[in-house]
Amino acid sequence: MAAVDKKPVTGAGRLNGVLTWIDTRFPLISLWESQWGKYIAPKNFNFWYYFGSLAMFVLVLQLLTGIFLTMNYKPDAAQAFASVEYIMRDVPGGWIIRYMHSTGASFFFIVVYLHMFRGLLYGSFRKPRELLWIVGMLIYLALMAEAFFGYLLPWGQMSYWGAQVIVNLFGAVPFIGERLSEWIRGDYVISDATLNRFFAFHVIMVPMILLGLVAAHLMALHEVGSNNPDGVEIKKQPKDEQTGLPLDGIYSHPYYSIKDALGVVGFLIVFAIVLFFLPEMGGYFLESNNFIPADSLKTPPHIAPVWYFTPFYSILRAVPPLFNSQFPGVAAMGVAVVIFFFLPWLDRSPVKSIRYKGPLFKGALAIFVFAFVLLGYLGTEPTNVWGQFGSWLQHADRATVFARIFTVLYFSFFILMPWYSKIDRCKPEPQRLT
Ligand code: HEM
Repeated sequence: MAAVDKKPVTGAGRLNGVLTWIDTRFPLISLWESQWGKYIAPKNFNFWYYFGSLAMFVLVLQLLTGIFLTMNYKPDAAQAFASVEYIMRDVPGGWIIRYMHSTGASFFFIVVYLHMFRGLLYGSFRKPRELLWIVGMLIYLALMAEAFFGYLLPWGQMSYWGAQVIVNLFGAVPFIGERLSEWIRGDYVISDATLNRFFAFHVIMVPMILLGLVAAHLMALHEVGSNNPDGVEIKKQPKDEQTGLPLDGIYSHPYYSIKDALGVVGFLIVFAIVLFFLPEMGGYFLESNNFIPADSLKTPPHIAPVWYFTPFYSILRAVPPLFNSQFPGVAAMGVAVVIFFFLPWLDRSPVKSIRYKGPLFKGALAIFVFAFVLLGYLGTEPTNVWGQFGSWLQHADRATVFARIFTVLYFSFFILMPWYSKIDRCKPEPQRLT
């Protein structure tokens, strides 16, 4: 490979002239080169490394489809539901834009969960990437808020009652709870005032926060450099004499530009299949109750959040109330999310990647994933979905008992990590990528 080329590799003649004109007035080329064009990445990225660029792709998709939806949506309690039906039936192409946005929300979470799981697999949250991980977690929180605010907008039964349940949870906070949930709603119940502010949060405030956080995420990544499936720090490797690159490093462009483009094609194939054949995913992406207009006098028999929140919702339901207060459940749910921030300091293993970790960490991760998925499933169902135990457990709901066991397993993964990651039988990390 040729030595590092300082000049921009652009098309011939005129374009080069325009670029040079811009570049003498704005650091366009250096920005492109530092953030992507000349960014040196390890050469062994695998399947799991598709999801960062895919998350960016879905973010753009959500922003674009969101802009078009906003052109016909009415953030007014008397008109919101009908305006969404109007988009679905009368606006040319409205149905596909709406389904891209609603299905896109679920795909965003699928992509981000897989992206986070990659972090767990390869220890990408470990030193020196702690801040990158923390910014990632802030993105995750912002994404949850974005999805929550957005779900109220169609003003269907589940929008209304889902928001009612979630906002009421803040009421469980000691002393200030009631005032806090009133402040969030802007009213004593979910109402037009709530819809207006959630619309403002969903289309302006949170997207701006998300964009800022994603920019910070990428800058932090490009400062410390990417991890990889072997957990080897390529920045510490000797440089190749000819190329000046670390021995196991390659330029992102064109190598990973091509790889990521393939990821986008794969994503679009799966996305199109779901969009055209299963846009509501049997009620998991859009619940049937949400095709009924919101009615503040009719509570649906079974209220559940969308699937991406259900592991945490399950934890909330699993923790029993204390002195008639829901606070322990609400606190457990909050801690279940916040605990991810501390991963960089909980993992004491001498190696980063799962490839060289021992059986304890591998087992703990497998149990954690199992518990997370089952909590997610249980959160979508009523608490008596598996019937009841006999008299020895005083007719307890089976699902609740299992949700409690999975909740304990969920927290054990984090709380016991400093211990099991330290005593685990790890293999030595290699010097070069394998
Ligand atoms: C909108 C959401 C997000 C976007 C657009 C995004 C984007 C990216 C991109 C483009 C990369 C580099 C490519 C790659 O390594 O796959 C990356 C890396 C990374 N992201 Fe994210 N990310 C998002 C959310 C998150 C979240 C929620 C977390 C974790 C809590 C996270 C943690 C990380 C980590 C640790 C890396 C470095 C991985 C490594 O080098 O092995 N990201 N992200």
